[in-house]
Amino acid sequence: MSFVSTSLFRSADAFRNSRALMLVRYAQTAAAPAPEPRIKKFQIYRWDPDTPGDKPRMQTYEIDLNTCGPMVLDALIKIKNEIDPTLTFRRSCREGICGSCAMNINGGNTLACLNKIDSNTSKVTKIYPLPHMYVVKDLVPDMSNFYAQYKSIEPYLKKKDESKQGKEQYLQSIEDRQKLAYRWMIDSRDDFTEERLSKLQDPFSLYRCHTIMNCTKTCPKGLNPGKAIAQIKKMMAVYKENR
Ligand code: FES
Repeated sequence: MSFVSTSLFRSADAFRNSRALMLVRYAQTAAAPAPEPRIKKFQIYRWDPDTPGDKPRMQTYEIDLNTCGPMVLDALIKIKNEIDPTLTFRRSCREGICGSCAMNINGGNTLACLNKIDSNTSKVTKIYPLPHMYVVKDLVPDMSNFYAQYKSIEPYLKKKDESKQGKEQYLQSIEDRQKLAYRWMIDSRDDFTEERLSKLQDPFSLYRCHTIMNCTKTCPKGLNPGKAIAQIKKMMAVYKENR
């Protein structure tokens, strides 16, 4: 037998063997028992202003965790896609950047896309809109007040002398750069620190923060807004003393 025909026989054998192996594997997979369903209950705040007389209520949904992604946002998307398309919530980036999916989950204000579903199926996961805001519908809070407040702090660099614009001139040391947790107030390049501080002289801007540290616990960037607010309170005290 020539070398060529021997190789042909060998490759035909190899082909038959691999096909047989594939069939065995397929049969094993097909015969594998389906995993026990892991049914988890979610109680979700519902309210629809377009339905006359509708009152806020909690609605319960059941989901098999075997067929759901790991995060609470995955569960909400699954409910909307497969069970109830009327459930309304915001989400965008799905990776803790945009903040759209902020809501109250099991008593904590957090991001649904970064919050893991508690795999204990005997516990119900309760989801509400953020507690300190008006509700537009279901889990969607009204952001108008937030944007008004954000605008009021003038969240951009302000210079008194703008004559040098157009050149890279607002240099900063590494140490100063590290202070930017409370951003414009401590920014060594900004010229309006006093004005910014005087705008905070009221009982609400700083002193409505009760240092619960929920913000720090949930900050997707690992920042410490609670500490930053405490630092601004200290700056405010010094500023008052020096006036
Ligand atoms: Fe953007 Fe959750 S979807 S932070």
